Formats: sequence, C-alpha cells, structure tokens
Amino acid sequence: MTTAEAEAFLQQYPELDNTLRLSLKAAIQSCQAGIERVHLIHRAVNGALLLELFSRDGVGTLISSTAFEELRPATLNDIGGILELIKPLEQQGILAKRSREKIEMEIADYIVLERDGLIIACIALHSDPHCQFGALACLAVHADYRGAARGNRLLNAAYQKAQQLHLKTLFVLSTQTVHWFIERGFLLSEFNALPEPLKVLYNPQRNSKILCKHLE
Ligand SMILES: CC(C)(COP(=O)(O)OP(=O)(O)OC[C@H]1O[C@@H](n2cnc3c(N)ncnc32)[C@H](O)[C@@H]1OP(=O)(O)O)[C@@H](O)C(=O)NCCC(=O)NCCS
Repeated sequence: MTTAEAEAFLQQYPELDNTLRLSLKAAIQSCQAGIERVHLIHRAVNGALLLELFSRDGVGTLISSTAFEELRPATLNDIGGILELIKPLEQQGILAKRSREKIEMEIADYIVLERDGLIIACIALHSDPHCQFGALACLAVHADYRGAARGNRLLNAAYQKAQQLHLKTLFVLSTQTVHWFIERGFLLSEFNALPEPLKVLYNPQRNSKILCKHLE
C-alpha cells in the first residue's frame, strides 16, 4: 500500500480493530517523516520475520510513500531486465528472438512494470509516425506474477499510448496466446490484411496467427 492508499483504507473501514488501526497510522506517520518503507508483520505467523526477510515478496504488508509496483515507459537502464524477462520465453519459442541492439533502438516503444527494482512485465507498441496502425509485441509477464491482470494493465497502457499517437488499428502476431487476445477484443486476420511494412517483417517459419483490433 502507498501511504495514500493506507489513509483511504482507514477512512473506508472506521470499524477496524485498534491493533491494525494504530499500526497503520504509525506506518503512515513514519513514511511521512522520511522512512522509506514500513513492513507490518503479523506476530501470529510462525517464522514471519525470516519469511519477510528471505522471500522476494515477504509475508507482511508493505507501506511506502511511493508505489511498490510501477507501470512506466522503459528507459535504456531497463534493457537488462527486459532481456532477462523474455529470455525463457524466447527459448520456449513463445516470443521471437530480439537482440539487445534491437531493444536498445526501440526502447521508446516499450512499457514496463517494475516491482521492487525488478522488471516483471513488458509490452512494446511499434508504430510509424506516418501510419495509422501499430504493432504490439514482446508482451511478457514474469511467470511468478501472472493471473493478476498485469497483462491487462499493460494492454490498456498500450491502448492509451496508441490513442495518443492517433493510431486506428493495432496488429499483433501470436503463436500461443491467440485466445488471450481474442478474449480482449482482437479478431483473427489474414496475411493480406497486414500493412506492407508489417508484411515484410512477417516470418513464415514461426507461422504466427495474425490478430487485429480497431480502436475507437
Ligand atoms: C499472456 C500473458 C502476458 C498474460 O499475463 P497475465 O498477467 O497472466 O494476464 P492476465 O492476468 O491479465 O490474464 C490472465 C488470464 O489469461 C489466461 N491466459 C494466460 N495465457 C494464455 C494463453 N496463452 N492463451 C489464452 N489464455 C491465456 C489465464 O489463464 C488467465 O485466465 P483467467 O483470468 O480466466 O484465469 C502471460 O501469460 C505471459 O507472459 N505469457 C507468456 C508470453 C506470451 O504468451 N506473450 C504473448 C506473445 S504474443
């Protein structure tokens, strides 16, 4: 929780018992006084301190003044994290292989989700300023963090970016995630429907399905 969320939580649940209320208040005050993070750990959990210290996500509630998980445009500093995230998916053939140089050149197209200093998800929206279409690519959520709508968040962020760029249509090529996109309003399309610049990039060996979505 951010301190703002914790304050809203306290207001929303005035009937909270005192232990929780006072702990949350103390955490908020500490953060406001300059402490970077406060961890509330339940005394009844066996080994809670060890679990909090030695597992990535811990077992308690973290209160901090800034968001613990942040969706933001990628920067050159994120390239290592992106490469690490997509490497296993490239090895499984789920994502097409990309070199560090290619990601570096296209870094402005990437949006990342950073959690506690780790890049746990990314998406890229490639587009050309003279065209009204864009191509989604490199959608990945770290296996430990799937199933909590992070894929949706990234897709929505890509839609927002596409609207700012006045794009009318989004394309995506997929081998194993076709239904995920269909469930989110994409339609199966054909090679001939691809704009010329995307036809050139299509790799017939991957035999990807072509999906498209018209934006309002
Ligand atoms: C696809 C992916 C980005 C979804 O991320 P996520 O954060 O788990 O997404 P969400 O939480 O928004 O959606 C989860 C839902 O998608 C479903 N789903 C996951 N992978 C799927 C797939 N390949 N095909 C169809 N549905 C899929 C889950 O079963 C879950 O369904 P539920 O909500 O009914 O339980 C993630 O599974 C991933 O990184 N996969 C590997 C990379 C990949 O396939 N990228 C796309 C390349 S085109």
